[in-house]
Amino acid sequence: MRLCLVSLVCVLTLACGPAASSPPAPETPKTTSYLRDVQPLVERSCRSCHTAGGVAPLVLDTPEQVAALGPTLWSAIASNRMPPFFAAPSCNSYVDDPRLTDAEKTLFKTWVDEGSPMGDPAEARHAPTPQLPVVRHDIELSIGARFDVRKMNDTDNYQCFVLNPANTADVMVKGYEVIPGNLAVVHHVLAYVVTPDQVSQLEALDAQDPKPGYACQTGGVGITGAVRNQIAGWVPGQYPSRMPADTALVLPAGSRLVMQLHYNLNALADPAVSPFDETKLALETVPMNTLRKGQILPMLKPNLAIAAGDTNSVQVTEVPVPASFRNATIFRAMGHAHQLATQVKLEVVKADGSTTCVLDNPRWDFNWQRDYTLKTPVTLVQGDKLRITCVYDNGQANQPFIAGVQQTPRAVAWGESSFDEMCMTYLTFAQ
Ligand code: HEC
Repeated sequence: MRLCLVSLVCVLTLACGPAASSPPAPETPKTTSYLRDVQPLVERSCRSCHTAGGVAPLVLDTPEQVAALGPTLWSAIASNRMPPFFAAPSCNSYVDDPRLTDAEKTLFKTWVDEGSPMGDPAEARHAPTPQLPVVRHDIELSIGARFDVRKMNDTDNYQCFVLNPANTADVMVKGYEVIPGNLAVVHHVLAYVVTPDQVSQLEALDAQDPKPGYACQTGGVGITGAVRNQIAGWVPGQYPSRMPADTALVLPAGSRLVMQLHYNLNALADPAVSPFDETKLALETVPMNTLRKGQILPMLKPNLAIAAGDTNSVQVTEVPVPASFRNATIFRAMGHAHQLATQVKLEVVKADGSTTCVLDNPRWDFNWQRDYTLKTPVTLVQGDKLRITCVYDNGQANQPFIAGVQQTPRAVAWGESSFDEMCMTYLTFAQ
């Protein structure tokens, strides 16, 4: 069979001449095998998204599907585009980091260079099935069926929905799952606790018009202090989330939740895209005081001034650790900025000037915002400061497209629209 193939290749390339009669050159032995070496890596680091019906376009369910794409996959790995986990390893180490180690990258590249050999099925190995965090749905909440996002009038719209968890005793929230209804238009989801003393204020806002919820375009949710009481968040690429270690968030009896949905309506230009949304939120609860009290707090750089045309606008602030943070442990951090940002970074600055890097996202990508859980939590002490750094590229080449037209740079400030900017970090911490 091999001789036949060799002859066929000779005929096709016309490059062999009389050598066809000499014995075939021995094949270079393959040092790698898909089934033994590469399959466990793909299963561990790629398959959670690259599966039939998953969020990613390429399906990597069978060895043949992976082998056919070897060089494409290697290019995404080599350039660190995939898997999408962008916290700089030089800053800190994170739980469930799916990135390939240098040794694994070398193995993957060798396998591609060797022509993606399949290997011996007897040697096949598998990674443990990647487990997404499972969150019990003890409380299930919905914005209501078929909310018509077209009733609003801009490309970016913020609607706040009032949800009643109806818990008659104080409880702690251990985890949450946001179930976005219409992935084509839901851009972010943020939910906050509104304590019983502010419920009547919230209900008055809700009653302002007959449709579900109320418009909250100006940012925030219209209730003083609510943003300091975040309970859930979702951005594209985010999975169900559990509070770290032995911590949980407090949900007092009689509270309501206010859930801000940011809808981006650009996708509705395609008539095939549904204008209806039914986003849901599920909470896993445990009895009060059975776990340590945690909190998710936004720390931000206000007053952004990003000059038109500035390709490297560095915005930094240092804030003293708030009173509620003293002697607190940071478990998890997440950056938030919009489309001009190229870097979001959070450091702790000690009284002696030394710094501890908590999160550095040096290739900020608006489409891949997720939270990063520290392998070793960072403990804050009195006198520490938090330094938040955001870098923006407001040059012509980095301008967004609106209706297919690339925009001209303009001065950009803090704002809720996707075309304004933000510079935020959300910290999950416990006392
Ligand atoms: C968290 C989900 C997720 C994981 C994990 C993931 N991908 Fe992706 N991948 C995506 C999505 C979504 C896209 C399409 C959008 C994009 O390109 O950002 C994509 C696109 C790609 C593309 C085409 C675009 C490009 O950048 O080349 C390749 C190739 C790819 N992924 C390879 C991989 C490989 C290899 C792994 C594992 C080492 C992996 N991905 C892990 C979600 C994921």
